[in-house]
Amino acid sequence: MSPVNQRIAILISGRGSNLQAFIEACDTGSLAAEVALVVSNNPAAKGLERASEAGIATAVVNHRDYATRESFDAALVQCIDQAGVDLVILAGFMRILTPVFISAFSGRLLNIHPSLLPKYPGLNTHQRALDAGDSEAGVTVHFVTEELDGGPPILQARVPVASDDTAEDLAQRVILREHEIYPMAANWFIQGRLTLTEEGAYLDGKSIPATGIPYQPDTAQGSR
Ligand code: GRF
Repeated sequence: MSPVNQRIAILISGRGSNLQAFIEACDTGSLAAEVALVVSNNPAAKGLERASEAGIATAVVNHRDYATRESFDAALVQCIDQAGVDLVILAGFMRILTPVFISAFSGRLLNIHPSLLPKYPGLNTHQRALDAGDSEAGVTVHFVTEELDGGPPILQARVPVASDDTAEDLAQRVILREHEIYPMAANWFIQGRLTLTEEGAYLDGKSIPATGIPYQPDTAQGSR
């Protein structure tokens, strides 16, 4: 196994269960990297405690301290740049980012969105899937571009929708897949297999389909 020398910053606003999945993936070696910094815009984010318990450096950049989105984003960029990271992960980060931030980390900035993108960008994805009568829901890891939840998909997991599901039931089914696919996609990046070009996302030099690579839970899929 190659030595762990790649560094990841993770941005959160709340619970941090995806952050926890990254911490565990780094511990087991299925993600060959180190979570070097966790940043939150919310000083009360539960995920900050998870990071501290794991001995990871944390920072709070509170959006309420900044007059504009751009000045907040510039402070975030400075904070992350100081940590010298290779990859930036948005994991339940509930602020809309401007080009100030996105251009600073373009091509090495990932997000996870709880829908089968391009369906349901934005909020309340599970309720929207139920309201539409969808038979499947899911989650997508994607590169971040300036279009909200609109950057090229990388990896997508599907779950069935049961007729009596509530949005909370669906969220619980989906989050289990989130914890599997997000570290997996990040590891592809860390291994140098995943790239973003003007034409879209590529894995191992092959163009990724518009809805991402379908996740296959029962296979190793690309030697994690
Ligand atoms: C997840 O559902 C993720 O898809 C969305 O925000 C939620 C974050 O959950 N972007 P957690 O804080 O990682 O538990």
